[in-house]
Amino acid sequence: MVKAVLYQGDAICWLRDLPDASVDLIVTDPPYESLEKHRAIGTTTRLKHSKASSNDWFDIFPNDRFHELFVELYRVLKKNSHFYLYCDNETMFVAKPIAESVGFRFWKPLVWDKMKIGMGYHYRARYEFILFFEKGKRKLNDLGVPDIIQVPRIYRGYPTEKPVEVSEVLIKQSTEPNEIVIDPFMGSGSTGIASVKLGRHFIGNDIGSEALKVTRERLQNLQVDFVSTLWPQSTSMSETTQLDISI
Ligand SMILES: C[S@@+](CC[C@H](N)C(=O)[O-])C[C@H]1O[C@@H](n2cnc3c(N)ncnc32)[C@H](O)[C@@H]1O
Repeated sequence: MVKAVLYQGDAICWLRDLPDASVDLIVTDPPYESLEKHRAIGTTTRLKHSKASSNDWFDIFPNDRFHELFVELYRVLKKNSHFYLYCDNETMFVAKPIAESVGFRFWKPLVWDKMKIGMGYHYRARYEFILFFEKGKRKLNDLGVPDIIQVPRIYRGYPTEKPVEVSEVLIKQSTEPNEIVIDPFMGSGSTGIASVKLGRHFIGNDIGSEALKVTRERLQNLQVDFVSTLWPQSTSMSETTQLDISI
């Protein structure tokens, strides 16, 4: 039986409630400060005005919280495990040294090739990075997988929604069935859908109720049954909204 558990809260506060060395993989995608810059200079009408505007939907996560965040991510990961951080080409230079300073080994940026051009005026954007970090030593499951992952971008989805297929590659590479994947900034729950589809347990969190609603609906569409056990066991998570799902 695979379980998915959803929480609502600030990512760092939520992580502090998870036990040490309790999860096998982190795949996450915070809303970076750099989004504000694009809004301010107006290079992105999509972020400013469209229905899928992250401006309307969520606040950014400031770069000066990275240290606290990475300390918690490192602590909750099991000894030999991986961490993937969806990242833009500006924030990666800030995030990488901070993650290394808390103990992560940085392997390389993977490229998500969206296969069609997007916004911007100077070389229009067609890719995003996924920073690949390691705690301890864990072998990738398939050493033949390339560092460019080609999956078309999502139009008119949740703001900055990532395709499930991209996270599926990461999860297949870095976990075994029944291991635990977390995403502290889950948005529409793409990491969760990928985890459950592959038979991995998922624990997700987001500060926004829209994210909880969308993720719950997507998981329900996978024909999941709801159960009501608090999992994993924790003493102080009672204030967060929680939902346990089993398939
Ligand atoms: C870039 S989106 C994630 C999109 C997701 N990867 C997907 O495929 O849908 C970032 C998410 O972080 C959430 N968020 C913003 N600040 C947060 C915080 N301090 N703690 C937890 N979640 C936060 C937002 O509500 C938003 O849903």
